Amino acid sequence: MKDILTAPFVREVCKITDNMYRMGWDERNGGNLSLLLTEEEVAPYLDLNQVLRTIPMIFDASALAGKLFLVTGTGKYFRNVIDDPETNLGIIRVAADGKAVELLWGYKDGGRPTSELPAHFRTHISRLERDPLHRVVIHTHATNVIAMTFVHSLEERAFTRTLWQMCTECLVVFPDGVGVLPWMLCGNDEIGIATAEKMKEYRLVVWAQHGIFGTGRDIDEAFGLIETVEKAAEIYIKVMNSPILQTITDEELWVLAKAFGVTPREGYLNS
Ligand code: 13P
Ligand code: ZN
Repeated sequence: MKDILTAPFVREVCKITDNMYRMGWDERNGGNLSLLLTEEEVAPYLDLNQVLRTIPMIFDASALAGKLFLVTGTGKYFRNVIDDPETNLGIIRVAADGKAVELLWGYKDGGRPTSELPAHFRTHISRLERDPLHRVVIHTHATNVIAMTFVHSLEERAFTRTLWQMCTECLVVFPDGVGVLPWMLCGNDEIGIATAEKMKEYRLVVWAQHGIFGTGRDIDEAFGLIETVEKAAEIYIKVMNSPILQTITDEELWVLAKAFGVTPREGYLNS
């Protein structure tokens, strides 16, 4: 067996969690990540028949039965992942009945997957229905996105339009816009269901006064979506109290959409 600490998927998760900590988004245990893995990817590193522990779940994930995920641990700090992946990360397989996960590696100190596992797993289910190549869910406490949810309408069209107007490339990166949930209690199945409902339509969902969920086919895509929204939110926070002398008009956004071959979410731009 090869050393799992050298596996590209472990190394990539170490790098991205370290990077996100340095962005200032993942204070303490804030944020969590899950990455769908194939058996072919994992088999050179782990005996797939050796289950270390079975961990019960509070909801039914039978739609994901048999699937493997690399998931950050609950209560674990993104800051520490890079120095001790085996304690802070785990590789789990969804049990056949969908009511538990089988631990194949990690959570070395007796830990468990993130408390946001319902939101992650339910989001994976929603996104896989839309895109069979979907693989990654990242949740983070992106600072300016959170700030924006205090001072901006949470109506999705308005929220998305403001982000699109803040930097030219936003429309190109997320033409499908941003879903927004009002403040809700986190770490339970209710917020997981609400998030996954939005994820049927959006690749990004903002949790007001909490953070953001981003998804994608790989870590670059999920992270890239989040950092683009965060950058736009930062510009919004910087300019919101100044007189606005010019912005990007809807006409210009249409020009941009045509030039880059993207379709803005129906009804979000004035024609
Ligand atoms: P976990 O430590 O359980 O991953 O929770 C962190 C978080 O951001 C909750 O929303
Ligand atoms: Zn959170």
